[in-house]
Amino acid sequence: MTDIEPRTDGGLEWTYAPAPESRAIVSFEERYGLYVGGETVEPRSGEWFTSASPATEEPLAEVAQAGPEDVDLAVGAARAGYETWSGLRPSERAKYLFRIARILQERARELAVAESLDGGKPIKESRDVDLPLAAAHFFYHAGWADKLEYAFPNRRPRPLGVAAQIIPWNFPLLMLAWKVAPALACGNSVVLKPAETTPLTALLFADVCRQAELPPGAVNIITGDGSTGAELVRHTGIDKVAFTGSTEVGKAIQRELAGRGVPHTLELGGKAANIVFEDCALDQAIEGIVNGIYFNQGHVCCAGSRLLVQESILEPLLGKLRGRLSTLRLGDPLDKNTDIGAINSRAQLDRITELVESGQAEGAELYQPACELPERGYWFPPTVFTNVAQSFRIAQEEIFGPVLSVMTFRTPAEAVDKANNTAYGLSAGVWTEKGSRILWMAARLRAGVVWANTFNRFDPASPFGGYKESGFGREGGRHGLEAYLGFEG
Ligand code: NAI
Ligand code: MG
Repeated sequence: MTDIEPRTDGGLEWTYAPAPESRAIVSFEERYGLYVGGETVEPRSGEWFTSASPATEEPLAEVAQAGPEDVDLAVGAARAGYETWSGLRPSERAKYLFRIARILQERARELAVAESLDGGKPIKESRDVDLPLAAAHFFYHAGWADKLEYAFPNRRPRPLGVAAQIIPWNFPLLMLAWKVAPALACGNSVVLKPAETTPLTALLFADVCRQAELPPGAVNIITGDGSTGAELVRHTGIDKVAFTGSTEVGKAIQRELAGRGVPHTLELGGKAANIVFEDCALDQAIEGIVNGIYFNQGHVCCAGSRLLVQESILEPLLGKLRGRLSTLRLGDPLDKNTDIGAINSRAQLDRITELVESGQAEGAELYQPACELPERGYWFPPTVFTNVAQSFRIAQEEIFGPVLSVMTFRTPAEAVDKANNTAYGLSAGVWTEKGSRILWMAARLRAGVVWANTFNRFDPASPFGGYKESGFGREGGRHGLEAYLGFEG
């Protein structure tokens, strides 16, 4: 059992002055209609809802709540858009994707601020991770658009048609890029539904499409809650579904699509093990642990939420981890020094709180550094649980918040057993000096991605996706293209 005390030395003497990014670079409209067939249209449903900033609870804009008639119009527009888009020469399609990539770069600052305002993530992350990666996905897929015959030699790839794409709120613009870029590169058209708490960067992306003079109907964006997503999946005019979100909704989508012959890829939750061996470079591992679970407030499907530490180094590791946690700055997402921003919604905060309470009730020990939470908005301090049994809910369920569960192991085989003892299988991390051990572990971990001596690294060329209840299908790389193509024979 570990006894964790808060730091007594008072932490750093120097504090950071506020360094807020200006929000003047973004001007949201009061209301956003739906982006259908290259035009902004009022919802036939006549319904609207508000997207707010989770850091301040301030309303940012009204967006349309698309109903069945709106979904039908969007799918119809995508069908017409598909005829045009799939008929273009592949090198022409590439040109549009390059344009979109460049516009994302040009408007990166505006989009990063919008992302942080609408979703609560630190500007440091939206600026340095979400935006550069979103642009990189369009550049990467622009390169493939006219080379698909070479990616799949002798298989005669062809587009599938209208792709229905539903994305979550943790990486709104990046998930849009993961979905839209490969779909368009392969000649499909798209109906995209962003999450209800973070629709605004997708609506700004509609403007990017306009600016790129993308042929009307190639990309359609409809906003709304889960009922809009369900309606889109039910529509008989779609040829492909790509979903990222909770395992529960993934299962519902799979049930709906059963027997319909609509190909689908599901990228669902995770409960990744971050495995630290005694021979690792400990300071680097600490950074990897912090990045693994506190990046984006832990709203990351591949977050390293279960820390497996070799028993011999548990005490020194926890000492360093506590020290590091006390230096994390929580607060205004637009402040460039902020490490931990706001929890995305009240509902998510409630879910995190409930699971953390269950951890305490089951007997785990909680540690949180001294940390002041802002009065307004949704916040949760970085949290570490020790004395965690594998059966505890905090060791089994996806918390999707800044909460780490620490467990120990003695041998590599035990580490593998514990790491694989989960319904999920999205990612894992291994920290060790031994290359041979990395390979031995990677071959045995049932996870789609295994990071070695790093964590949360992404590249458009590298396929990403899961095993078991983390879903199926890959995004990125040639594997990701395959999910948007049909093949002769
Ligand atoms: P969710 O799965 O309900 O939402 C994801 C997207 O699916 C949103 O766009 C939503 O509007 C849409 N959706 C909801 N119900 C639908 C339905 N029946 N048919 C089609 N689309 C539907 O996720 P939620 O409720 O926001 O979060 C719950 C938990 O899910 C989180 O605590 C987290 O554990 C997990 N999650 C995992 C994500 C991941 O990246 N793997 C992303 C978001 C949530
Ligand atoms: Mg919002």
